Amino acid sequence: MTSARDIRPRQDDFAQQHLSVSPNASFHSPSSHGSVLGRTVPLVNAKHLKPFATQDIKVLLLENVNQTGREILSQQGYQVEYLKSSLPEDQLIEKIRDVHVIGIRSKTKLTARVLKEAKNLIVIGCFCIGTNQVDLQYAADNGIAVFNSPFSNSRSVAELVIGEIIMLARQLGDRSNEMHNGTWNKVSNGCWEIRGKTLGIIGYGHIGAQLSVLAEAMGMSVIYFDVLNIMSLGTARQVETLEELLGQADYITCHVPEIPETKGMIGQTQFEQMKTGSYLINASRGTVVDIPALIDAMRSGKVAGAALDVYPNEPAGNGDYFNNELNTWGADLRSLKNLILTPHIGGSTDEAQKAIGVEVAQALVRYVNEGSTLGAVNLPEVTLRSLTMDEPNHARVIYIHKNIPGVLRKVNEIIGDHNVDKQMTDSRGDVAYLMADISNVDTATIKDLYTSFESLPSRIMTRILY
Ligand SMILES: NC(=O)c1ccc[n+]([C@@H]2O[C@H](COP(=O)([O-])OP(=O)(O)OC[C@H]3O[C@@H](n4cnc5c(N)ncnc54)[C@H](O)[C@@H]3O)[C@@H](O)[C@H]2O)c1
Repeated sequence: MTSARDIRPRQDDFAQQHLSVSPNASFHSPSSHGSVLGRTVPLVNAKHLKPFATQDIKVLLLENVNQTGREILSQQGYQVEYLKSSLPEDQLIEKIRDVHVIGIRSKTKLTARVLKEAKNLIVIGCFCIGTNQVDLQYAADNGIAVFNSPFSNSRSVAELVIGEIIMLARQLGDRSNEMHNGTWNKVSNGCWEIRGKTLGIIGYGHIGAQLSVLAEAMGMSVIYFDVLNIMSLGTARQVETLEELLGQADYITCHVPEIPETKGMIGQTQFEQMKTGSYLINASRGTVVDIPALIDAMRSGKVAGAALDVYPNEPAGNGDYFNNELNTWGADLRSLKNLILTPHIGGSTDEAQKAIGVEVAQALVRYVNEGSTLGAVNLPEVTLRSLTMDEPNHARVIYIHKNIPGVLRKVNEIIGDHNVDKQMTDSRGDVAYLMADISNVDTATIKDLYTSFESLPSRIMTRILY
């Protein structure tokens, strides 16, 4: 088998970071593994693709990315530079010029101005949920994939909601505040067990489904409303309409995405449809609940308690910013009884941060080593099954190109002399992503292939993995 170093091109031959070659016994690629009952098992005979010289893959990790992620990237042999904070734009531009991979959280702004300088960059890892801090379109137009971790904190949110249901049922927030102020106020009026009560979950996705299982374990009956038909867990029951859910549930909790259809989906009409004395929890997005309508519903006694973790406007940093300047109803909201207010901490646990580190780092490794875009937020999702050890002279061509007519004909002219074992292409807007595994490839042909792809007018970026 060809050694990785043997076919390393000279720096001036062509953009070396886009050529990737050859297996190595110590390398383990996540996509060369299968999952059995949640455990990762190596696929027999999988050929592990690897960048031709991993120490040449430069990674910059900013904003104290979790150690779990740092370790996964370092174990690949990549050169990993790690900084605890974000960088001012001029320093960021200076550093990003050199790197192939950058890992950030929410404070680093990867604008078009910054990305324009990132000539070697092939992939961005957002070690968080949101990706607003990145110019996703500019990145896609320049063949830079972006990954994030939307679901690593689902369990943390579900657990917070379970805690809040009990807190609201027992008015724990108020009792605790009173004790902090020196007041002993032992009451049982309006306090309940949650056993036997009905929980209504709006949005039965990653968080809603986790919550469903936890709530049933606490003896609650669970109903849910979702725009999709989703198989229930346990004895939970899907209802046909939001109105049906609101009329039956004692506790209502929102777990829908922020989209135009969910803006203000719990407003005055919906509060009127709720049972008197019911409770509302929102740990999804701040625009989902009409807060002035909630204030009215709580003042009238229609709603006996509420917990909010998210708000239409949230401050960019910690401090005494939760005031009327931020949201005009701030003081009215804060004056209400049995209302738990938390600063968007639903997913803020150590476990979630560790899980984010693993999920994003594995996606980066899969992308760098194998070209798989599964989970990318700005490119079409394309993957191919692993090459095997029986295919030592196969190469994987990755061609990111403008989504214009006639490209496939040109691509097939270039790879036409090889047997194309598998090929997949997909587009998203103006950008398309093509992967092809081809046989009978040696060092010289890799260079020819690369040069031919790079000379096509449709070209955005070419990578060849071997
Ligand atoms: N508070 C936090 O810290 C925190 C942390 C993570 C996620 N979140 C938020 O929680 C929400 C849910 O996250 P998730 O991971 O469960 O998302 P998800 O995509 O897994 O699930 C969302 C569900 O809502 C359903 N849905 C969409 N539109 C709907 C509508 N109009 N009516 C009813 N159902 C609808 C979808 O079909 C899907 O099943 C998101 O808004 C997310 O941003 C908040």
